[in-house]
Amino acid sequence: MRIDIITVLPGLLEGPFSHSILKRAEEKGLATVKVHDLRPYGIGKQHTLDDYAFGGGAGMVMMIEPIASCLEALKKERAYDEVIYMTPDGQTFDQPMANAFSLKENLILLCGHYKGVDERVRQHLITKEVSIGDFVLSGGELAAAVVADAVIRLIPGVLNDETSALTDSFQDGLLAPPVYTRPADYNGWKVPEVLLSGHAANIESWRFDESVRRTKERRPDLIGGPFSSEKGGNTTAQNDS
Ligand code: ADE
Repeated sequence: MRIDIITVLPGLLEGPFSHSILKRAEEKGLATVKVHDLRPYGIGKQHTLDDYAFGGGAGMVMMIEPIASCLEALKKERAYDEVIYMTPDGQTFDQPMANAFSLKENLILLCGHYKGVDERVRQHLITKEVSIGDFVLSGGELAAAVVADAVIRLIPGVLNDETSALTDSFQDGLLAPPVYTRPADYNGWKVPEVLLSGHAANIESWRFDESVRRTKERRPDLIGGPFSSEKGGNTTAQNDS
């Protein structure tokens, strides 16, 4: 998979992709993230990227030409599955969307700034608008890093323990169960007996029940939703979705 990120602040994205899982994914050749500075595509001597809004009002608007030129240059090199604009008024990013993106080959993430991009960019040049939540960031860069992280870690081989992405919170519509490690007893705070029993079926059943309990307590809105594996009633049922 390849993710191209278009930004006016490339420096903001240097950190996230040179560390940890994302760096390893690059080193293993499983995912490539390329950050593109929009500035060279700017207009005139100053490489201008933004201008005042027609009709007045505070704040600058990112112009269509630099964005169109940058997209054209990228699209000459390869076909893209999606051109995604990061914006607070886009579709809210969630695990099913991360799963869907992780199956794609080439994605472009366009980061907005100032008052956002000229509406014609949204109408004609992008295929999807994505928000990472109901709050406003000062630009789309951190949102793009969040999306890239959530997507890349799902690519088979990126995580050392391949099953661990499948048991994440949200992956089956439920929050993940509690986890424990040594010592089994810390100051009298004990690890649940069942986890020490070695009885795989009982452990699996306990984890499922805990997932359901935790989800009902913290995120009741997830129960019975389209991605929920909890069919209601019998909380000891196997997770069969
Ligand atoms: N740009 C600014 N705020 C954002 C958000 N919440 N999600 C995606 N992109 C953004």
